[in-house]
Amino acid sequence: MKAREHFGGRAAVIMALAGSAIGLGNIWRFPYVVGQNGGAAFVFVYILATILLSLPIFFAESVIGRRSRANCRGALATLAPGTKWHLFGLLSVITPMLIVSYYSVVGGWSLDYLYKAVTLSFTSGSGGTEGFGSFVSSTWEPLIAHTLFLLISIGIIFGGVRKGIGKVSKIGMPILFVLVVAIVIYAVSLPGAGKGVEYLLHPDFSKITGKTVLDAIGQSFYSLSLGMGIIITYSSYVRKEENLLATGFGTATADLLFAMLAGMAIMPAVFASGIAPESGPGLIFDTLPFIFSSMALKMPVLTSIVAILFFLTVLFAAVTSAVSLLEVGVAYLSEEFKMSRRKAGVLVFIFAWILGVICSLSFGPLADVQIFGLGLFDLLDKFCSNILLIIGGLLCVIFVGWKMKRADVYDEFTNGGTKRLNARVFNAIYFVIRYLAPIAVLMVFFSSVL
Ligand code: PFF
Repeated sequence: MKAREHFGGRAAVIMALAGSAIGLGNIWRFPYVVGQNGGAAFVFVYILATILLSLPIFFAESVIGRRSRANCRGALATLAPGTKWHLFGLLSVITPMLIVSYYSVVGGWSLDYLYKAVTLSFTSGSGGTEGFGSFVSSTWEPLIAHTLFLLISIGIIFGGVRKGIGKVSKIGMPILFVLVVAIVIYAVSLPGAGKGVEYLLHPDFSKITGKTVLDAIGQSFYSLSLGMGIIITYSSYVRKEENLLATGFGTATADLLFAMLAGMAIMPAVFASGIAPESGPGLIFDTLPFIFSSMALKMPVLTSIVAILFFLTVLFAAVTSAVSLLEVGVAYLSEEFKMSRRKAGVLVFIFAWILGVICSLSFGPLADVQIFGLGLFDLLDKFCSNILLIIGGLLCVIFVGWKMKRADVYDEFTNGGTKRLNARVFNAIYFVIRYLAPIAVLMVFFSSVL
């Protein structure tokens, strides 16, 4: 077996995987998708989708990564030599490289908003829709923020797998939970917050439609970082004696818990201010600052502290996810082209930075450049989240369910037969990977394309 860097013990593995999973998907996307889908009933379907579908797919990706102990393309080339499957590996490198470019634009917004929170800009009333609109459509401010955000992320990668990614996640993730819990405590104490809590926790099952189910699956996929090589790459840094089921389960639990906490941090404030929860993607960047600036009139100091904590949370969650997106490319370049991680990191940075600049400018100077009626940022997001990510997930379950030998998958789950695994549990997971997941993923694919 080749010597390979690893994250460390189980806690470090779960923290690194959770660092990838918990990101803008939980804080920025989850609350507004819940808002657009009617609240608690969506949350219920989302939890089911995560347990029944996403978790088995997560396991499938872990099997590929840990068994091959290689970057995405190397992994598929190792497990299916002499076939075209390495092209799936290559796709799994390209997808996160595209995603990280616009992800770091939004990450930059959170950095900029943190700065605004620290300099009390919200309390002077410049938050809100107008503030957000003029900020994203300006040229330089978002670009500087995007650049700084990418520099922070690549800096962590330069630290190495264990000392950079592993360490930052192990220290940072618990802090992230403390931060979000502090915000939740504040949010639920606001007058009128009860409605927001009820909205998240009291399901009205009559609201569940086909769209709810498909949106829930899509969100769960996005949130667990599936279908884009991240779990394959990160699992390649998991030691052979580690229990893949335990790490996957721990990661999904942390991710779900954090999404719920983020919802509890945001919805009560939204309801307390009488704003409609379905306001969409702008929820945390224009609705929330609007709320902050109006609350600041009554409680300036407390509101400033909460605003700082909030955008610090968003920033940190986004950085650890961006790191995982970047690491897929860095692992690929450094292993396949035998270059140092540093050189690979610089190349990945340059690519993500240039594409990110174009995405950022698509809100301002390049706003008129539209393809299929979409700006470049939206186009890239839709193309990646609705098409590439889904194709990646589909190929992954087909590979593990139909190409790999069942005995090899079992072997990986039981660490070479040294760990006991209930046959029923294995059969259930294998059934989902082989039959249920491909069908469900195809349904999501067609629904989003149509
Ligand atoms: N899972 C992370 C998040 O929820 O933010 C990272 C991520 C997943 C980013 C999927 C982008 C993406 F398309």
